[in-house]
Amino acid sequence: MYYIGVDLGTSAVKLLMTKKDGTIIKAVTKEYPLNFPHPGWSEQNPEDWKEAVFAGLRELLKDHDASLVAGIGIAGQMHGLVVLDENDNVIRPAILWNDGRTQKETDYLNNVVGKDVLSAETANIAFAGFTAPKILWMRENEPENFAKVRKIMLPKDYIAYILTGVFSTDYSDASGMLLLDVKNRKWSEKMCEICGIDLSVLPRLYESYEITGTVKPEIANEFGFSDHLAVCAGAGDNAAAAIGTGTVGDGGLNISLGTSGTVFISSKEFRVDENNALHSFDHADGGYHLMGCMLSAASCNKWWMDEILRTKDYENEQAAIENLGRNRIYFLPYLMGERSPHNDPDARGAFLGLSMDTKREEMTLAVLEGVAFGLRDSVEIAKSLGIPLSKTRICGGGAKSPLWRKIITNVMNLEVERIASEEGPGLGAAILAMVGCGEYASVEDAASAIVKVTDTEKPDPALVSEYEKRYRVFKSLYPALKPVFEITK
Ligand code: XUL
Repeated sequence: MYYIGVDLGTSAVKLLMTKKDGTIIKAVTKEYPLNFPHPGWSEQNPEDWKEAVFAGLRELLKDHDASLVAGIGIAGQMHGLVVLDENDNVIRPAILWNDGRTQKETDYLNNVVGKDVLSAETANIAFAGFTAPKILWMRENEPENFAKVRKIMLPKDYIAYILTGVFSTDYSDASGMLLLDVKNRKWSEKMCEICGIDLSVLPRLYESYEITGTVKPEIANEFGFSDHLAVCAGAGDNAAAAIGTGTVGDGGLNISLGTSGTVFISSKEFRVDENNALHSFDHADGGYHLMGCMLSAASCNKWWMDEILRTKDYENEQAAIENLGRNRIYFLPYLMGERSPHNDPDARGAFLGLSMDTKREEMTLAVLEGVAFGLRDSVEIAKSLGIPLSKTRICGGGAKSPLWRKIITNVMNLEVERIASEEGPGLGAAILAMVGCGEYASVEDAASAIVKVTDTEKPDPALVSEYEKRYRVFKSLYPALKPVFEITK
């Protein structure tokens, strides 16, 4: 039997087909537009996701017997607000996880409703990208649209709804809505009241590996699937990536270097960081996790390469880099504002330390280092909570770069373990489907049978100490520039 994992990302959807031992038979990527209608806003059209998923499925299944697919798991970009009317039509473009329009609503939630209430109800405080502030924004700014809302969904759940007709979500993804009582795995009625929505507009909750339904007969027909092809609830992309890298159970750490950058710590026990600097969410293995999220990670490098240097040859640009740990240039990676740890949608990117002799390679290196330093901010918070961290798994497009992996290893002073597949979320989603279909007894069992470490990068003490000095400087830059970001907003 085959399993399909879908990763509905921000720049593209990635689909992969695996055997039950995790061997990837085929992988397909389909891109779609990402729109920034105002500075700091970020939207996508759910119809574009649907078309890309359908085109991806067609390509994935070409030359394969679709009737042998037993299960589909879907992972997706978190927090996005997808709204449907009474006829299941999409009311407005989805407002995405990296959209910064909701500062007013975020401030209202944190300061008027109060962080203590939010934390008691949901285990988290408000961040601009979370779903609840977006609902409040829509209520205030688009009352006609708000009045039409009959279903509120997360991006991957829209795709599952198209495939199965079942209005569902899973606990890991629901955690990022600021509407879920994360500890007790149920919707918070109080948060619904605060957002002015009825519980009936929210999907039914499942564990990520639970089967929610089967594909609709017309879709089974179109693709040649069997009519009992099962779809599991799936997961937010970070929880799915953690499954795909074997970051399950207690004390696992995964760093994802995708469009966003995340630091993900799995645990069996519910825990909450007292300052709520890290998100406290449910995990797709049935447990919990803490997470820090940078809004721009590999996307900083993509911006620098594609938009500024105007090259697609990332490898060649990185090959010219020497002098790790000695760079005089600093880069602040806040191109879309920042979530963890600053919670500041108005923060912006910056290069510092430029002089007449600054070279292109130094600026390229500064971008890679700036992202690593930003991720370290979240690792430092985890350490301050007494969580012992000595090694991490890594995934995401950025993890393909040996140079970037080396920088991360030495900036963090952690051993960095690479997995055979960087496709964390897609593989994780396929694993969830396998568990749902009964191939493995638990997500932990499946991950330990399937996920293998291929190599480990070890820190070099001399480089660690150079990076320690540079990290201290980096840490001082955001507070120094914060007043400037007040002016540039
Ligand atoms: C996590 C987050 C991002 C998106 C990216 O909180 O906002 O990692 O899930 O797709």
